Amino acid sequence: MALVSGADRGLGLALTEGLLRAGWRVFAGQYMADWPELAKLQQQYGESLVLVPLDVGDTVSVRVAAAEMARLTERLDLLISNAGIGSREGDLESGLDYAAIENTYNVNTLGLLRLVEAMLPLLERSTLKRIAIVSSEAGCITLAHRDSGFGYGMSKAALNMVARLLFNDLRPQGYTFRLYHPGWMNGYMSGSKGTHGDMEPEEAAVPALAYFTGDREDEDRLALVDYMGSEWPF
Ligand SMILES: NC(=O)c1ccc[n+]([C@@H]2O[C@H](COP(=O)([O-])OP(=O)(O)OC[C@H]3O[C@@H](n4cnc5c(N)ncnc54)[C@H](OP(=O)(O)O)[C@@H]3O)[C@@H](O)[C@H]2O)c1
Repeated sequence: MALVSGADRGLGLALTEGLLRAGWRVFAGQYMADWPELAKLQQQYGESLVLVPLDVGDTVSVRVAAAEMARLTERLDLLISNAGIGSREGDLESGLDYAAIENTYNVNTLGLLRLVEAMLPLLERSTLKRIAIVSSEAGCITLAHRDSGFGYGMSKAALNMVARLLFNDLRPQGYTFRLYHPGWMNGYMSGSKGTHGDMEPEEAAVPALAYFTGDREDEDRLALVDYMGSEWPF
């Protein structure tokens, strides 16, 4: 049993479909009630796909989702923390929107923490106990090349720290981690579908799922790995 956050479109939708195709049962975190793609998938996959309202920026929403999932399954094997937003925050010259930056942090960084905390009782009953975290090279401090995008970069760097702290706590209890940069995709983070990315979310989902569901030689070392299998410092 897997959970994907931000499953309505972009990478989350492609991951959901890839998991279903591979025979997984999937809880799809639905944030956009009016977006039709998940409903279409459900017609195709029936009971293998359960749509769960999920706003990772809202603690109550995450807890309600966890309670609903606990009603329907005994365990969760794979948690994919995928939901993420860009920050429409302005810039230094025109003025920064701090509420937008805070919201980006709330969703991109605290979202993971909320998810893991709420799902722990279900993950605990799995033998895989896998937590897959969609991060970004934008959160890599030592190789940072941008001169703006504070909210997004800061939130992903902090997300990597959440991953590290969770790893230090939960790895000794048997949890396994995948910290991942999916590459530049034509997702919807700008508000409409991107056109300049290196790949479509459906293409990006293939190496992502192979990494999320496959074995790693060294589960005792947390690594930020990209879609080519290369490792990033973080
Ligand atoms: N696209 C890239 O090139 C790229 C590169 C590196 C890393 N990433 C990471 O990959 C992940 C997926 O990106 P993507 O391009 O697939 O993005 P996307 O197309 O925008 O899909 C993300 C989905 O999550 C939803 N969402 C927004 N806020 C949410 C919340 N509070 N709770 C739950 N879901 C929420 C979005 O809804 P709305 O559309 O309404 O916001 C959207 O449906 C993100 O974590 C992103 O940071 C993306």
